[in-house]
Amino acid sequence: MTQATSAPAAKAAEAFKRLHGRAPDGVWSAPGRVNLIGEHTDYNDGYVLPFALPHRTAVAASPRADGALAVSTLGDDGGVQEAAPVVVADLAPGTVRGWAAYPSGVAWALREQDIPVTAGADLVIAGDVPAGAGLSSSHALECAVALALLGLAGVTAERPDIARWVQRSENDFVGAPTGILDQTASLSCIEAHALFYDVRSGKSEQVAFDAAASGLEVLVIDTRASHSHVDGGYGARRAGCERAAGILGVPALRDVDITELDEALVRLPEELRPLVRHVVTENDRVLKTVDLLRAGRLADIGPLLSASHMSLDEDYRVSCLELDVAVDSSTAAGALGARMTGGGFGGSAIALVPVDRHEEVERAVLAAFAARSLVRPRLFTAVPSAGAGRDR
Ligand code: GLA
Repeated sequence: MTQATSAPAAKAAEAFKRLHGRAPDGVWSAPGRVNLIGEHTDYNDGYVLPFALPHRTAVAASPRADGALAVSTLGDDGGVQEAAPVVVADLAPGTVRGWAAYPSGVAWALREQDIPVTAGADLVIAGDVPAGAGLSSSHALECAVALALLGLAGVTAERPDIARWVQRSENDFVGAPTGILDQTASLSCIEAHALFYDVRSGKSEQVAFDAAASGLEVLVIDTRASHSHVDGGYGARRAGCERAAGILGVPALRDVDITELDEALVRLPEELRPLVRHVVTENDRVLKTVDLLRAGRLADIGPLLSASHMSLDEDYRVSCLELDVAVDSSTAAGALGARMTGGGFGGSAIALVPVDRHEEVERAVLAAFAARSLVRPRLFTAVPSAGAGRDR
């Protein structure tokens, strides 16, 4: 599917011409995401509800014949960063570090699926997904690279399969033990909708999400507190969930129904109870949110968003000062609900804000950060946008 050319796609194509002296064979791009609700549920086989951001990462690409993957990235200042070329046939986990591990890992994962990528490729990357903001800039990059390499190889594949390959690259090559939320969002979201995705069954539903029609908007508050899921906090929680499922004798925490929660909690050691309480109640909140959206009651989801944040803060313990300040100050100023989005430990929060309260909420958030001498956050309104595709 070819879509209207995004600004990053035009930049990537232009930079490709400058660097390689010819037009690229094609340009593909993929968006970042926010997750409306359903946090830390994906690796528990549960439910998520993300939508795609208008911000995208684009990859201009042409095949090579010498087996090398040569990747250049266009910086915000127009400067180009070139990664040392790697030989696709020689790629193995641990062989590439830093940002170049993301595109290399995708090439490795596709090669592992016997997709013909070993001829190599020239890739030039440009994008505007804020990096380190918990908005999935790395997944936007990985998904765009995956589509580019598949496109050059002339291979078509189902989006859920591509998501799984990208996840494998991230887990096994980059070394981040993350789930499948972000890749799925980047690859499968569509404009004006949130994607209700059941990780266990792989079933998805596009749920209409038109905040503006209800006089509302989703305000993203990028706290600029950096986060990473390669270090221990994320993996420790994931391991805790898996241990709890084992003790409860179920394949995943998805299998604990909300009506059985109290009974399950008493069978668990003290330290695992809050993790399980979060996952089980969060899955329930996703289902309730989807029901409200299907009923056209978008304005009523606010309390569920705020309850999700409280659960992530108090039970799952993945919030931080900046995220709490963003949530508290936005709701105190009139947001109907707010929560951290993504893995946590930093990154971004979202707030559901009546459009006529936008100025007030923005002022209150900025003032709250300034009062605590925190770095000034970056705020923008997020409109559900198109998923990954070919630009030209
Ligand atoms: C990160 C991971 C996702 C998901 C979220 C938490 O974004 O990449 O797989 O686990 O955290 O919901």
